[in-house]
Amino acid sequence: MGYRIENATVVTCEDNQEVRVLKNATVITDGGEISYVGIDPPETKGFTLINGTGKALIPGLVNAHTHIPMTLLRSYADDLELHTWLYQHIFPIEAKLTADDIYWGSQLALLEMIAGGTTCFNDMYYSVDRIAEATATSGLKALLSRGLINGAELDDYTNDDRLKEAVSVYEQWNGAEEGRIRIALAPHALYTCAPGYIRTIRDTAEKLGTIIHTHVDETVKEHNDCLNQYGKTPVKHLYDLGLFDIPTIAAHCVHVTEGDMDKMKEKNVTFVHNPGSNLKLGSGIAPVPTAMEKGLNVALGTDGASSNNNLNMWEELNLSALIHKGFSLDPLAVKAQDAFRMATVNGAIALGFNNSGRIQEGFRADMVLLDLNSPHYYPDHNLVSNIAYSAQASDVETVFVDGKILYHKGEYKTLDKERIIHEVNRIHKALF
Ligand code: NI
Repeated sequence: MGYRIENATVVTCEDNQEVRVLKNATVITDGGEISYVGIDPPETKGFTLINGTGKALIPGLVNAHTHIPMTLLRSYADDLELHTWLYQHIFPIEAKLTADDIYWGSQLALLEMIAGGTTCFNDMYYSVDRIAEATATSGLKALLSRGLINGAELDDYTNDDRLKEAVSVYEQWNGAEEGRIRIALAPHALYTCAPGYIRTIRDTAEKLGTIIHTHVDETVKEHNDCLNQYGKTPVKHLYDLGLFDIPTIAAHCVHVTEGDMDKMKEKNVTFVHNPGSNLKLGSGIAPVPTAMEKGLNVALGTDGASSNNNLNMWEELNLSALIHKGFSLDPLAVKAQDAFRMATVNGAIALGFNNSGRIQEGFRADMVLLDLNSPHYYPDHNLVSNIAYSAQASDVETVFVDGKILYHKGEYKTLDKERIIHEVNRIHKALF
């Protein structure tokens, strides 16, 4: 048994990658799955009826790169360049965070993501067992990873505590919660990981059969330092280390070259666009139109709430549809439906949730009901355009993951908002 949503406007990506709008549609979910989408529904008995009049049903948004506990550091160190921000402000305060702080910071992020219609996310941080615990309670889907940092070139990394921790988290959590939680391996970045370390992580990922999540070519400094140190671009460096032989999610990719993108395409590396974070840290504007032309899978992410400063995927959707037009002087650079695909199905594919990201029979029921009864949705010339250019996170009315309602009209079904805010305030006081 499940839900029968009647008379809704369904917006989803089809098999041919086109984004389609289906009006007056009925969507039926059975268990965790979508069992019917169309305008001529079968009779059903015992399903909970939802009136979709004046609402759009879209796939849940997928945040393909973030660091959720960093909500604790929101607005703590703003208006700084990445290296100053990271080394002088973020790393020192992160060293003080306890596993319990990370647990509550994660819950704060989960509140924010759920209310904004995010149903799935890709995270890199530490104390991942506590992040996994919070995610399990929330009902969201996630690909989680322990950020791996070791700049020392060693013959043998078997005693590397971080890598050991990452493997143990994998063993404990990969596939947990009926497959809602998956674990990746995450070399933080080429400037925090020695080549031998990256090779070891690659070999470990191959053994485990998991995905790689890493930061790639985020700043001009990273790009030039890599050229100076290794005589090649960051992408070429990682390619030569064999990292991309493993399915890889590469965050940022701001300064990748055309040749780099050919290499990424060859290895099917996902390009995660983080427009909000890249703009805020002054890192630049990623070459997304070229990546799309080359047929790369481009997904969208917020990055952490300390460099964005929120986990609102609607802003990323909007920014990705806008900034490339201004930057390239081409209003066709990234279209509304391109941005919609990046925020939904492309992210789901990147994270290995291949059965999510579309409103389609046989897909998981990870869906968001948007209330269209706001002035900014009228008139309805083009709903995909309205979603990319005028939708707001506050339009999210109901959020489903695996056919379960996690949020409805401001009410959380799985998380205790008051308690979470209380704990976060306590932690903030103690930390600062
Ligand atoms: Ni990041």
